[in-house]
Amino acid sequence: MKRTKINRLLEAEAPQDQVLVKGWVRTRRASKGFSFLELNDGSCLKSIQIIADKSLENYGEIERITTGSALSVTGALVESPAKGQAFEIQASEVAILSLAPEDYPLQKKRHSDEFLRSIAHLRPRTNKYGACFRIRSELSFAIHKFYREKGFKYLNTPVITGSDCEGAGEMFRVTSLDPDLVSKQGRMDFTRDFFGQEANLTVSGQLSAEMFALALGDVYTFGPTFRAENSNTARHCAEFWMLEPEMAFCDLEENMDHGEELLKYLIGHITEHCSQDLELFTKFVDKNLAGVLDTLKTSLYSRITYHEAVEILQKSGKEFEYKVENGTDLQSEHERFLAEEYFKKPVFLTDYPKTIKPFYMRMNDDNETVAAVDLLVPRIGELIGGSQREERLDMLEQRMDQMNLPRESYWWYLDSRRFGTVPHSGFGMGFERLIMLVTGITNIRDVIPFPRTPGSINF
Ligand code: 4AD
Ligand code: MG
Repeated sequence: MKRTKINRLLEAEAPQDQVLVKGWVRTRRASKGFSFLELNDGSCLKSIQIIADKSLENYGEIERITTGSALSVTGALVESPAKGQAFEIQASEVAILSLAPEDYPLQKKRHSDEFLRSIAHLRPRTNKYGACFRIRSELSFAIHKFYREKGFKYLNTPVITGSDCEGAGEMFRVTSLDPDLVSKQGRMDFTRDFFGQEANLTVSGQLSAEMFALALGDVYTFGPTFRAENSNTARHCAEFWMLEPEMAFCDLEENMDHGEELLKYLIGHITEHCSQDLELFTKFVDKNLAGVLDTLKTSLYSRITYHEAVEILQKSGKEFEYKVENGTDLQSEHERFLAEEYFKKPVFLTDYPKTIKPFYMRMNDDNETVAAVDLLVPRIGELIGGSQREERLDMLEQRMDQMNLPRESYWWYLDSRRFGTVPHSGFGMGFERLIMLVTGITNIRDVIPFPRTPGSINF
């Protein structure tokens, strides 16, 4: 007999004579003459109730079933008299696949996020983390669905790279040199390294994506990116996933239109397909979640320039930890104030000073600001960072010279500005930040299966 997943059984239209389910026990309680077992298989938030009658031949064993044990249960799917569940299973056979010991760490009580982080290999078995990672999966799927419907091509860009896209110098080195030899020689001789030159883990697939956008039109990459920035915040990971669309014949306005459409589509998708899991977050994590998601889905996102934002912040009368000064990068407290308190909805900030942005952003006519765009959202701050790209060869070369970037290393990138260059734009959306946004979870360590942060690479 084939196993049926519990989400299917709970959605069944009618009782069934015989079904087979497999899963893990959340709780067991005994009553006179029978046991109730709550079985969960991860297919959905809800567990299915199993009624095991004392007439079962192994009832003695069943009475010793502990939380966390794995079972294979055959029985009849019957309408449940209990509230909150349409069906339950009247077991005809309960096979114990493995018994969990009494010290199984996940007992039926609420555990703190900090404790669960210390057992990240087990936390997906809890309601909250199960729900989070089902939503994460559904969001990935929705991203591919959105782009397929829009005719974008999905691109896999390299993880190991020889160039620093963001120019922030926050890269992890990739080498096959023997550390003992290096310390004997007193230096790294990259010409003898695997690639014959320095290599790093990528911080962004953008430069590759641009090359393909200028061939396939509209592309997106979606994969892991790595940053060795030593920021131990609730919004930064050393390894995170980023979605990066790149569009030919697209200016900054259209880039923002695209970001807004994307976010609204993704919110729409999960409110439709993850309602049960989202309800858990409304109940236990953020009572206002439904309202937050509704605002994200229906509001018209604001669009202002960096300079306008600085003015708003300076006039706000709000005490910030970091002072807001024209020409400096905004801190997360500033970004959150704008989205959360001032606009109370997502806001695009454009036209940042060139001094705080990477080389590839398109220079504005004022020669001081670039066609950059960040999308700030309530509770998170920056969710999206992007720009219109500098498509003019002379302007790009000028910028690279000013920033001391060697033209030779970027010869292929510069080629694209020689051969049929066109206006194009794109952005990166932090996937973990998106999950934080839609669940209300406030620490990035809790939305990625196994977080990599400064000083921590367990699991
Ligand atoms: O703003 P960023 O640095 O932009 C880029 O890398 C561009 N090359 C993207 C592009 O235009 N194709 O990063 C983009 C987004 C941020 O807005 C943020 O959501 C997320 O990536 N992000 C991080 N998420 C988690 N941990 C980190 N350390 C992150 N750094 C950036
Ligand atoms: Mg950014």
